Amino acid sequence: MFVAEETAAGITVTPLSPACGAEISGVDLATDLAPAVVEAIRAAWQKYLVLVIRGQDLSLDDQLRFAARFGPLGERKKAPEGLRERTEGIYQTEKHTLLVSNMKVDGKPIGAFGEGDMWFHIDSGYTERPYKYTFLYGMELPSTGGNTLFSNMYMAYDELPQPLKDTIKGRKALHIHEYKRTEKVDTSGDISHSPHWFHPVAVIHPETGRRALFVDRLMTARIEGLEPAESERVLNQLWDHAENPRFVYEHVWKLKDLVMWDNRCLTHGRTWFPPSENRLLRRCTVEGGPLDG
Ligand SMILES: [Fe+2]
Repeated sequence: MFVAEETAAGITVTPLSPACGAEISGVDLATDLAPAVVEAIRAAWQKYLVLVIRGQDLSLDDQLRFAARFGPLGERKKAPEGLRERTEGIYQTEKHTLLVSNMKVDGKPIGAFGEGDMWFHIDSGYTERPYKYTFLYGMELPSTGGNTLFSNMYMAYDELPQPLKDTIKGRKALHIHEYKRTEKVDTSGDISHSPHWFHPVAVIHPETGRRALFVDRLMTARIEGLEPAESERVLNQLWDHAENPRFVYEHVWKLKDLVMWDNRCLTHGRTWFPPSENRLLRRCTVEGGPLDG
């Protein structure tokens, strides 16, 4: 197992897998945290990319206040009119909050992205400014499945075979989303009606200066400058490589877990869970900026 590390700020950091992820303990996120504690969390976050803080009793305000210690809160993206019903859950009344849930009230979804499995993706990777950080809080969980998979995209880039590194060097890829979970967008026709943006295939993380692969199976559609068949071939290689279990930490949720991650160096996905069981997680984010390659 992994060795827990006590920090000077009084929190304990315990790594969760060889790929990424650490559990933070000795902290109550509902309280007003001292700056030294926030800095210790930030340092652990930069090192482990995903942090898990268990047993937290968090109101919506508590969650937002904690997240805001790491930057301006991101607002929930408004989907274009024709796609809106896929994202507008009736309980999503606070503009920074998205409810990841399969639950319905009077036949209407209370949140979004609720059912079954979900392919690897980057939260709001289809926008000019993908969210820096995501914070997800476990409120209702199925008896099995619905785990969140995190893939370390620094490792994925570092271990990419050199010919693939050469192929993607200096290139951008199209990211596009129509709020589905396991189906790609058809980009053969007009895509102006669907949110999309081009990002470098490998980005430079603005804070660490490290290079990370920035593609995912759900939203990355094609690589600029490559013939369609070649783009598809390369993307399939990149996805298969990036989802290798040796880069992945699988989070098995417990109630009251707060899981926080960095979208610029991780992709994440979800395993299947029984549709007859409820799952509800409350999400908020920190706003990001344009990414350079
Ligand atoms: Fe997500």
